Amino acid sequence: MAPEATPRRIRYPGRVQTDHDLIARWRAEPAPLLPLLHAFHDRDGFLSDDALKAIAHGLRLPLADLYGTVTFYHHFARTPGGKDAPRVCDGPICKLKGCDQLLDELEGATPMPCAGRCDEPIPVLQGDRYLVGLPGQGALDDRPPHRPPVNPMGLDECSFSHLRDPARATLEGYLATGGYAALEKARAMDPEGLLRLVEDSNLAGRGGAGFPTGRKWRAVHDAKGGPKTIVCNADEGEPGCFKDRVLMDYDPHAVLEGMAIAGQATGAHRGFLYLRYEYPHTEVILERAIEEAQGILGEFKVYVRRGAGAYICGEETSLLNSLEGRHPFPRNRPPFPVTHGFEQTPTAVNNVETLVAVPQIVARGAEWYTGLGLGDHNGTKIISLSGDVQRPGNYEIPIGLPLRTLLEDWAGGPPEGRKIQAVTMAGLSGGFLGVNDLDATLDEPCLRGKGSFLGAGGVMVFDDSRDMVEVARQAMSFFAHESCGKCFPCRIGTQRLTERLSGQAGPKDGGEWKDEVHAIGHTMSEVSACGLGIAAPLITESLLRLFPDQVDAHLAKS
Ligand SMILES: Cc1cc2nc3c(=O)[nH]c(=O)nc-3n(C[C@H](O)[C@H](O)[C@H](O)COP(=O)(O)O)c2cc1C
Ligand code: SF4
Repeated sequence: MAPEATPRRIRYPGRVQTDHDLIARWRAEPAPLLPLLHAFHDRDGFLSDDALKAIAHGLRLPLADLYGTVTFYHHFARTPGGKDAPRVCDGPICKLKGCDQLLDELEGATPMPCAGRCDEPIPVLQGDRYLVGLPGQGALDDRPPHRPPVNPMGLDECSFSHLRDPARATLEGYLATGGYAALEKARAMDPEGLLRLVEDSNLAGRGGAGFPTGRKWRAVHDAKGGPKTIVCNADEGEPGCFKDRVLMDYDPHAVLEGMAIAGQATGAHRGFLYLRYEYPHTEVILERAIEEAQGILGEFKVYVRRGAGAYICGEETSLLNSLEGRHPFPRNRPPFPVTHGFEQTPTAVNNVETLVAVPQIVARGAEWYTGLGLGDHNGTKIISLSGDVQRPGNYEIPIGLPLRTLLEDWAGGPPEGRKIQAVTMAGLSGGFLGVNDLDATLDEPCLRGKGSFLGAGGVMVFDDSRDMVEVARQAMSFFAHESCGKCFPCRIGTQRLTERLSGQAGPKDGGEWKDEVHAIGHTMSEVSACGLGIAAPLITESLLRLFPDQVDAHLAKS
């Protein structure tokens, strides 16, 4: 059920806008730096020194700070024509599909980290055009993303309840399927009743950390000061995760409704939607939905802010710094965003999936939502499933579903004649589970018992033909590339672990090599300042635990 075509970003039709026009357009807006940088980037096809000088002058920013910030992001081109050069996804699953060959085949192409389409051919971003590519065939035309497969057990869904309805992305279709009724209901409730409803649902954050949503909203509601802010985290940078894109593309009004209900519960009248750079078509869809829904959203104002390529900007405090136009390092906590968030005011940062679940919960009740989980577990979770399975895609599962049921019964198991060797959890951040872990259930207590976690729900499957040391090396190299460099153990540790997995460094003796890898990982997980450095060693720890023979073979070769 494909929409006609992937929408394109077409900016500034007609007259060419001068530096002065662009600065005047954005200077008075909240969070102006990113949109202003994008406006120059779109107009000129790169960010020239003169553009940066004009922006620094226009926003009264130190030029040296602006250079540091701009060059931190992957996608701001600094040379003419750079914006339109093809970028080819070289995430873990695209590696399996031959992205290295495609990179060689496309003139001027450079790699980009996982671009969030792991259930499709290799994504190629060319300016604002989203193409897909295949080795030997080059870059093909845009294709709308897959709609999620229906779950074969006929189970009730929450976030995907209406998503397969082709009209749902329009206001008319949204209203026809009960859209915005939950916002109306929330407006008729007092904030206390609304907060209690969300608390009773036990909805937990779907962006990775699993913090209880009701508790977060209550803290923002109770916090002194303002204006209060809702931030929808649509950065979706975790390799192997592609659920938020599908929710926004096919159900954009549900995201807006969730944000407005969050505003109602907390007392916030504005919201930012921080969207990753790699989803240009999604920006068009969201802007259109915001325009359509203006009358309904009323005084709750939503601003879309497009990132520029940096995995760390998904971490909520790094995201807030990025929105504010600062260098996007994570902040030290406490204080937490609920009291000191956007511009030091109380802020609720929530993931797209979390917010999309809210209208359903408000409309259908807390008990309905808790009842969707299996056994003692509450609710549902979207799993982005990719790699060596027959039917990859986004599956909304009841929390507590056995991993094996998802892999084999829902997704058809590994390719003909192959066996599953390993899966990753939480994208890459949860490390690997092995074939003996497939009876695990998909819920945090079970997965934490196995040294992993569900996180944002990316599960990548590797069959028995794959070299797991190489998969681990690529994963660690991603973390090394994306480490923001603020703290030493993560900045250096991710590099040292990548070198060891590449066979380039470390003791020759196998026992000493493993001790050293454990020691580096231990230091990182104990003292890193944010989740990236804390979680990255799960890759090496699970590799050593599950695949000692492959590690020994790797050591023997190096
Ligand atoms: C390195 C790193 C990257 C993250 N990336 C994302 C992301 O892309 N999207 C997201 O919603 N949360 C991400 N998070 C989690 C956020 O910090 C935060 O917990 C989340 O947005 C809160 O929303 P939730 O409570 O609804 O899950 C990331 C965390 C870390 C440490
Ligand atoms: S742990 Fe890594 S990514 Fe996080 S703040 Fe430290 S250096 Fe940056």
